[in-house]
Amino acid sequence: MDVIDPRIEEYVERLTTPHDPLLAELSAETAAELGHTPMLTGPVAGRFLELLVWFGRPQRVLEIGTFSGHSALAMAAALPEGGRIDACEIDPERAAFAQRYFDRSPHGSKITLHIGPAGETIERLEGEFDLVFIDADKEGYVGYYEAVLPRLAERGLIVADNALAGGRVVDDSPPIAEFNEHVAADPRTVQVILSVRDGMTLIRRA
Ligand SMILES: C[S@@+](CC[C@H](N)C(=O)[O-])C[C@H]1O[C@@H](n2cnc3c(N)ncnc32)[C@H](O)[C@@H]1O
Repeated sequence: MDVIDPRIEEYVERLTTPHDPLLAELSAETAAELGHTPMLTGPVAGRFLELLVWFGRPQRVLEIGTFSGHSALAMAAALPEGGRIDACEIDPERAAFAQRYFDRSPHGSKITLHIGPAGETIERLEGEFDLVFIDADKEGYVGYYEAVLPRLAERGLIVADNALAGGRVVDDSPPIAEFNEHVAADPRTVQVILSVRDGMTLIRRA
């Protein structure tokens, strides 16, 4: 089920500034080589992330779930001087694909790819995060949230993708619904669920 009328999606995409040709190439090659294209953040959500990074000027970004590298590269393009991204991906084939594109991009050297379960990577990483993008296994979202919240910078932001699970959150109980309820009931944070693509939640400290 589409969250938004496909004609409106098409309109929004047509009037959103397109990404650079490398991301278009990445998307096409993802479809041909890896499949699973609905996993890609795509041009609208990618541009949204890029604008958040441009505005927030985060020095440290954590991405949980990198797939073929689209969202990491979209964010990397807007990072301020000295900013970097730690990107977590469990699947070595997807990670190798993403790394190939990081190597081709002028912004790719700002991204460090960690291959393995994100929970273990987060434990190994040191310091605070200014921006965390959660976009991996939906069953893991509550755990990722609990792991990163104590390490979120004072003015940090968590962005969680697929908050609407194709609209199934309304009538069904997809794993993301538990996460949405968990955050909504948490007095430590303030959140807004936006209907960008499949739903993106922005979360900050209360
Ligand atoms: C929705 S895709 C990410 C899409 C990506 N952010 C983009 O813009 O194209 C989710 C990814 O999370 C990865 N993943 C799933 N479980 C994981 C885990 N425990 N640790 C790290 N990555 C995981 C999957 O292999 C998959 O590539």
